[in-house]
Amino acid sequence: MIQTAIGKDIAKARALLERGLLVAIPTETVYGLAANALDPDAALHIFEVKGRPKFDPLIVHGADRERVAEFVQSFPEWAKTLSDKFWPGPLTLVLPKRQIIPDIVTSGLDTVAVRVPLNPLTHELLSQLEFPLAAPSANPFGYVSPTSPQHVMDQLGGKISYILNGGECSVGIESTIVTELEGKIHILRLGGLSVEEIESVIGPVTLNAEPTDTGHSPGSLKHHYATKTPLLHGSIDINNLDSTTTGILSFQTRYAEIPLEHQVVLSPEGDLRKASKYLFAAMRHLDSLGLKVLLAEAFPNVGLGRAINDRLSRAATRLSGTTIEG
Ligand code: TXA
Ligand code: MG
Repeated sequence: MIQTAIGKDIAKARALLERGLLVAIPTETVYGLAANALDPDAALHIFEVKGRPKFDPLIVHGADRERVAEFVQSFPEWAKTLSDKFWPGPLTLVLPKRQIIPDIVTSGLDTVAVRVPLNPLTHELLSQLEFPLAAPSANPFGYVSPTSPQHVMDQLGGKISYILNGGECSVGIESTIVTELEGKIHILRLGGLSVEEIESVIGPVTLNAEPTDTGHSPGSLKHHYATKTPLLHGSIDINNLDSTTTGILSFQTRYAEIPLEHQVVLSPEGDLRKASKYLFAAMRHLDSLGLKVLLAEAFPNVGLGRAINDRLSRAATRLSGTTIEG
């Protein structure tokens, strides 16, 4: 066991990373489990600590576009347009990689995912480092992503020595991943930047139809973001419920039949940004209550509501009774 500290000491985070060790870093989306992206041994540690399969590649984070441009072959027009508009921010671009990025980071793919996150502490850290940071979300593989330093502590405490404390994540849901496939701009993973915002600058994009278990972007694995308590996602039928063992995650509605302490209403005023921000914290909270089942509403399928539905449907138990792993 390692002693895990939470703090705002950039010099300490930097020293650990320079020694090839892992540090949890804040971003606007979720906390990342970071290591030197140019050091294969450091990157390997990430997979070990997370329990993540090595076929699931990592995102490489840099302080600005100039720096991440060193790791890709080129920035096509669409990528320039999107990064000009949305970086720093919840957008990841998958582009053909340069050789300097080790295979372990990209799981052997000839593309690399790059992102410029928005968080003052992490920005300062990235500016001081001589290398970019590979960072997946700082949760054990398959579980809900962390949006506060305490979430990281709860799950990775004892496994890493430092959590850089950037407070609560402002977006709360992972970045939107975009690439070019057969000449079309394609969303590989819905996330904190809405499809509508992307389309407003580059026109229509394509989307994966359905999450699969063999997705080419492993973020599209069907069972992901799971709670330990079985979760069902869809319209909530309040009849036939055992109100004492059921938890509810809703957008705006409070259900009078269910005890207040077993419900989370994400945004009574109907703000999807606010709902995204607190989605994972709410899933964690409901998961900690020892209930038999969690019911999550279907959110409006617009804006960030699409990404929320995406995460909830991946977290959902299959009605066939298959248990959730991942
Ligand atoms: O908001 C985020 O993106 C957070 C923060 C920490 O930046 N990171 C994050 O990382 O969500 P992770 O590892 O949990 O998800 C990254 C996803 C993976 O599912 C992976 O499959 C996809 O990015 N990915 C990475 N490199 C890829 C590539 N070359 N081609 C296709 N997908 C890739
Ligand atoms: Mg993740």
